Amino acid sequence: MPQSVRKAVIPAAGLGTRFLPVTSAVPKPLLPVIDRPLIHYGVAELAAAGIHEIAMVISPGLEAVAGYFRPNIPLQNALEERGDAARLAQLKDICDLAEITVIEQAEARGLGHAILMARDFIGNESFAVLLPDDLIWSDVPAIAQLARVSAEHGGSVLAAKRVRREAIPGLGIIDADPVGNGVQRVHGLVEKPPIEEAPSDLAIIGRYILTPGVFDRIEYASAGALGEIQLTDAIAGAIGSEPVHAIEFEGDHIDAGTPPGMFAANVYEARRRDELSGVISELIPD
Ligand code: UTP
Repeated sequence: MPQSVRKAVIPAAGLGTRFLPVTSAVPKPLLPVIDRPLIHYGVAELAAAGIHEIAMVISPGLEAVAGYFRPNIPLQNALEERGDAARLAQLKDICDLAEITVIEQAEARGLGHAILMARDFIGNESFAVLLPDDLIWSDVPAIAQLARVSAEHGGSVLAAKRVRREAIPGLGIIDADPVGNGVQRVHGLVEKPPIEEAPSDLAIIGRYILTPGVFDRIEYASAGALGEIQLTDAIAGAIGSEPVHAIEFEGDHIDAGTPPGMFAANVYEARRRDELSGVISELIPD
């Protein structure tokens, strides 16, 4: 029986070019969805799945991304003096979500390279990868849904979602056969195919359970699309030698890595919050 997943990597060292100009001063993982930075939702999802050992891969100088999860003593003292117990508890809860190890990626050499940076932290066990741009609201944390598949079938597991045809050339696309309960056995993966060459409309979404063998395959992978070291190629390299599955997860997904996606995520999250859902339209002048 494969052991349960204990550790995760959050790659958060991208350039965020699709979010310029704001990302020239504020790292994308700190952009807010209502009142929490994007990265908060990813760490909270991992914590809800029982994964509390997290390596955060960040760019040099952007420690503020991990700093959000550390105690802010002067702020805590100020809230204590004011007797604001609710806000104080909220801040302390954030620090208790996870034990975060910061790993620097000196140069943005792609997602695969970012994950390779966490090799020593992970060691020789299966681990989770969560891309913070991909927000998923679900009853069972999406990463826990993947971990279940990994416990049942072994090997690697990818999160998958059916997408519109026009979205296919921007995504990693899965060639697979269903094995039941929304789970697919993966035969091939192709990064950003032209629509007419895509094997399906099933796209990879930013949640993975990976086996430690992926590190060697990333290391030896030849440079893929955009000259970056691609994770998709390294996972595809496991097909045939170990099980690779995809799960069409239960939940609502928004890619918040672009301004329209971030806007949609804010509207979605506002609708979920009782205190906000009624007031938004009152606040916007006609
Ligand atoms: P993206 O492909 O979305 O790139 O990365 P990006 O830099 O975040 O955004 P754009 O495309 O420039 O607008 C997918 C994930 O991989 C991380 C990113 O932080 C994001 O979570 N990543 C990407 C790294 O950690 N390092 C890299 O070198 C590249």
